[in-house]
Amino acid sequence: MHIATLTMGNPQILLLVPYGLVVLLHFSCFLKLTSSSTSNFTDQTALLAIQSKLTFDPTETVLGGNWTTNTSFCDWIGVSCGNRRQRVIALDLSFMGLQGTIAPHVGNLSFLVSLDLRNNSFSGFLPNEISRLHCLKVLMLYANQLEGNIPPTLYRCEKLEIISLAINKLSGHIPEELAFLPRLEQLFLGHNNFSGGVLLRSPGS
Ligand SMILES: *[C@@H]1O[C@H](CO)[C@@H](O)[C@H](O)[C@H]1NC(C)=O
Ligand SMILES: *[C@@H]1O[C@H](CO)[C@@H](O)[C@H](O)[C@H]1NC(C)=O
Ligand SMILES: *[C@@H]1O[C@H](CO)[C@@H](O)[C@H](O)[C@H]1NC(C)=O
Ligand SMILES: *[C@@H]1O[C@H](CO)[C@@H](O)[C@H](O)[C@H]1NC(C)=O
Ligand SMILES: *[C@@H]1O[C@H](CO)[C@@H](O)[C@H](O)[C@H]1NC(C)=O
Ligand SMILES: *[C@@H]1O[C@H](CO)[C@@H](O)[C@H](O)[C@H]1NC(C)=O
Repeated sequence: MHIATLTMGNPQILLLVPYGLVVLLHFSCFLKLTSSSTSNFTDQTALLAIQSKLTFDPTETVLGGNWTTNTSFCDWIGVSCGNRRQRVIALDLSFMGLQGTIAPHVGNLSFLVSLDLRNNSFSGFLPNEISRLHCLKVLMLYANQLEGNIPPTLYRCEKLEIISLAINKLSGHIPEELAFLPRLEQLFLGHNNFSGGVLLRSPGS
């Protein structure tokens, strides 16, 4: 199955959603974060777990001594922190030829807005824990070796605008729930091994 782009920028979709839900979705990232007691130490632990799941780093960027606790993780290659808090907002390890799996700890990077691991050789499953990233807007995982299903709970990342999972080995059904992502603009799923048809409806249609 090849699905190039799905554009869901129709403003009527938003009008069909009850007002209270729009407000809830709008503030949920902030609310969930202020009510949680995570710290920047959790971010460091998560990044070290992600590092520990790498088996090969041809350019020795992540495994070559740059990601060391001697320096703030905000100075590590590929890591961007927010200005107000020392929390990870973007992780960009794209085009590095990395091999390994994606540690489930990625779901602990509570303030993550962009996860870009495109064009590497990440294998294994897409961890369900990604669904805990309520601030996530950009999920770029295309051109890897990921297998298994798209976690149906991904719809919980209400801020998602771009999902790119193309050129992997993903299978199973494409979760219908993705249609309920209110801000989704681009969905790239081509060159995988999905079965069945895709049925993405806007809420209310
Ligand atoms: C890691 O790389 C960044 C960016 O090149 C650099 O600023 C930083 O000093 C490096 N840290 C270490 C410990 O090598
Ligand atoms: C980190 O700091 C310790 C103690 O200062 C030092 O022995 C070690 O070589 C440092 N490691 C790196 C990778 O810079
Ligand atoms: C984590 O936060 C504490 C307190 O705000 C700060 O002192 C420390 O430098 C931060 N650590 C990192 C790695 O950013
Ligand atoms: C982070 O995530 C992992 C796996 O999802 C979990 O086992 C761990 O308890 C979490 N919390 C912290 C603070 O690292
Ligand atoms: C991945 O990157 C390599 C070079 O780093 C390039 O040759 C290759 O075409 C890229 N693959 C995709 C699918 O973008
Ligand atoms: C794709 O999935 C089917 C089952 O749905 C399986 O038989 C086939 O081997 C898979 N192909 C690849 C390339 O993984």
